[in-house]
Amino acid sequence: MAAFPGRVPCVELLAATSAHQDVTVAGWVRTKRESKEFAFIELNDGSCLANLQIIVDAGCSGYADIGSIGTGTAVAAHGCLVESPGKGQRWELKADSLTVVGHCDDDYPLQKKRHTDEFLRSIAHLRARTNKYGAVARVRSRLSFAVHQFFQRRGFHYIHTPIITGSDCEGAGEMFRVTTLDPYRGAGASAQARDDDFFGKEAHLTVSGQLSVETYALALSKVYTFGPTFRAENSNTSRHMAEFWMIEPEIAFADIHDDMQLAEDMVRELVAFAREDCAQDLELFAKFVDTTLIERLDQVLHSEFVRLSYTDAIDVLKNSGRRFEFEPAWGRDLQSEHERFLTEEYCKGPVFVYDWPRDIKAFYMRCNDDGRTVAAMDLLIPQVGELIGGSAREERLPELKQRIAELGFDEKDYWWYLDTRRFGSVPHAGFGLGFERFLMFVTGIGNIRDVIPFPRTPRHLEF
Ligand code: 4AD
Ligand code: MG
Repeated sequence: MAAFPGRVPCVELLAATSAHQDVTVAGWVRTKRESKEFAFIELNDGSCLANLQIIVDAGCSGYADIGSIGTGTAVAAHGCLVESPGKGQRWELKADSLTVVGHCDDDYPLQKKRHTDEFLRSIAHLRARTNKYGAVARVRSRLSFAVHQFFQRRGFHYIHTPIITGSDCEGAGEMFRVTTLDPYRGAGASAQARDDDFFGKEAHLTVSGQLSVETYALALSKVYTFGPTFRAENSNTSRHMAEFWMIEPEIAFADIHDDMQLAEDMVRELVAFAREDCAQDLELFAKFVDTTLIERLDQVLHSEFVRLSYTDAIDVLKNSGRRFEFEPAWGRDLQSEHERFLTEEYCKGPVFVYDWPRDIKAFYMRCNDDGRTVAAMDLLIPQVGELIGGSAREERLPELKQRIAELGFDEKDYWWYLDTRRFGSVPHAGFGLGFERFLMFVTGIGNIRDVIPFPRTPRHLEF
């Protein structure tokens, strides 16, 4: 037995090609209107953006309860799917029975049609019941699937890299500490703490699965990881969170150009997928969030992804005639104002900036023959700035050791990583795509906190 036998998702009913009898639906009431003889219920079950209209009249069992039904009430209905005489929908359900599944208290905060994003963030446990956040959740789910589909079709293997890491040396950002000791009192504060702690050494939440996934690329050739990553950097911007999801492919027998091609293919395919698969939800974003959305997405499908060396990018910025808050100079990182100029104004589309100064990049990036740059690349896209960061990896043992020494790291901490360079090392490359940054691009949503169900940012950990 099932709890609601024969229940059909609204998305299927709304796409029906003929009328149906004996239909059961269940969901949450978005609105209810009552006239003398009828009540109209707009029902949403989350299966799609659109609501199913339910017509309830005095002949319907449960009609006596209609007064207790309002926005937010959970109901189930049974009846016939018939062609709707009204405007705005093709099908409606003429109910012969209506049941209240869960009452909704009067102080339900989503009574009103529109709320600010800030307010909705403070009720993250309920915001998925709005059109916009329901749509975000569906797009996020479908694109997660599309990520796996993209890689699996190309023969990549999905590797589960660890969340808790014993290597605090990936260099990608500030790390969160993992410990079973009380850091404020007792053993946590003692000199013995490290030995007494759960792992007998310092442990952290991972900032990137890269170093781990590299070891699998050097066995399975084409791999990727897709999981949560954690950064304790105290940056309160609309593009950073303390917990975010990253997709990190790693390919063996490959260089930086293969890496950029893979990134381009992936971004294009995911955008094409979203356009097709999430069309109804994207229409909502195009209407209420960003009116240039569809145009912008199609532009990515049809425009070339420019490749610009870092050195050329600095020249472009210097000769732009633009006054930047931070003056562009060779050897300095690009600021977001620089990124935005390059992608939105200079290239008017996605641009890879590659071959970055060695001194501002991570130890594992492959040194170019000029001795002062590394084979690193960032993909910049309109509206978002940096979407992807990646590189060819230093596969040569002496060069890698030298870099570790230069940065004052301890070789012992990297013994397993260095092993891979001693036992059949090959040129390899990879990148990390910030999944939420990509969702910002695909939905037009301007704040990263609104494309993840439960955002974690400095001083915000409500749920
Ligand atoms: O450029 P990042 O730091 O690269 C790495 O972590 C490499 N180990 C990846 C690799 O080569 N396998 O981060 C990659 C991407 C960024 O381009 C950005 O999109 C996203 O991750 N990102 C963040 N997204 C949200 N909040 C943050 N705090 C982020 N930091 C990086
Ligand atoms: Mg980066």
